[in-house]
Amino acid sequence: MKETAFFNDFLRMADDAWHMGWHESNGGNLSYRLRDKEADEIRESFMPGDWHKIGVGVPVLASSFFIMTASGSHFRNMLKDPETSLGIIEVDDTGERYRQVWGYANGGRPTSELAPHLLNHQVKMEATGGVARVIYHAHPSDIIALSFVLPLEDEAFTKELWGIMTECPIVFPSGIGVLKWLPPGSLDLAIATSKLMDRYDAVVWAHHGIFAAGADFDSVFGLVHTIEKSSGILLKVMSTGRDRLSGITSGQFKELAARFDLKLDERFL
Ligand code: 13P
Ligand code: ZN
Repeated sequence: MKETAFFNDFLRMADDAWHMGWHESNGGNLSYRLRDKEADEIRESFMPGDWHKIGVGVPVLASSFFIMTASGSHFRNMLKDPETSLGIIEVDDTGERYRQVWGYANGGRPTSELAPHLLNHQVKMEATGGVARVIYHAHPSDIIALSFVLPLEDEAFTKELWGIMTECPIVFPSGIGVLKWLPPGSLDLAIATSKLMDRYDAVVWAHHGIFAAGADFDSVFGLVHTIEKSSGILLKVMSTGRDRLSGITSGQFKELAARFDLKLDERFL
C-alpha cells in the first residue's frame, strides 16, 4: 500500500491541506475513487469487514473502491498514522452498502460525510464520464467568513469571486454553488449538495466550509486554494471600507473567455 502512487498522493494532499490551516481538529474529509488496476495492486492486503448501509443508493458506484479519511481523524496525523487516519472501502454490487477492507485501525470508520462523498462521486462520475475521482471537504476560514456577509446565492459568490481575481473564472468557469446551513453529516446536506454538483465543481456550505470535486488531487487542491485565496482578497478589500476605484469588466471577462477558451456561464457575466 505504502508504495502506491494514489496512496502517497492522497497523503500529500491531506498534509498540504493541514499546513494551509484548512483542517482544525478533525475538520474536513477526503476521498478518492480507485482505478481497477489500483485496487488490483493492493487487493492481497484487504481484510474485508461487515457490510453496512450507506443511507443513499449509489448504483453507478457498484463494486468500486475508495480511499477515504476516517471519521474524527485529524489531517495533522494523516502522514504519521495513515492506518488509523484513513482506510479503504468497497461498495457492494447494488450500491446500497459498503464494507471496510483496509485501515480504519482501532475501531475507526469512514467520515461522517460518507453520504455526501459517495453521492457526489456518483454525480461527478456521471457528469464527467468517469474523469472525476476526488471529493474533498475543508473548513477554510475566508470562505466561511464570506458566507456571513454575502447573500447565500450562487450568483453573488461567483460574481464577487470572479471579479476579485483574474484566475477565478479560469479555475471555476462554471461558477460555484452555495447552500444555506444544513446539519453536517445529514442526508439533507448530501442531497442538496448533489443537486448542485452536476453543474459546479465546488459548493460553499454556509458557516461550515467548502465541498469540492475534480479529476485528481492537484485540480481539487488548486480549486479550493483559488476560492480561499480570492475570498481572502475580497474580505481585505471589503475591510478597507473604501469604494472600489476599478474592477474587471464584463468585456474583460469575455476577452478572458476567448483567450483561454472558457465557457463562462452567462448568468454570471
Ligand atoms: P469527520 O471527522 O466525520 O470526517 O467530520 C468532519 C467534518 O468536517 C464534518 O463536516
Ligand atoms: Zn465539515
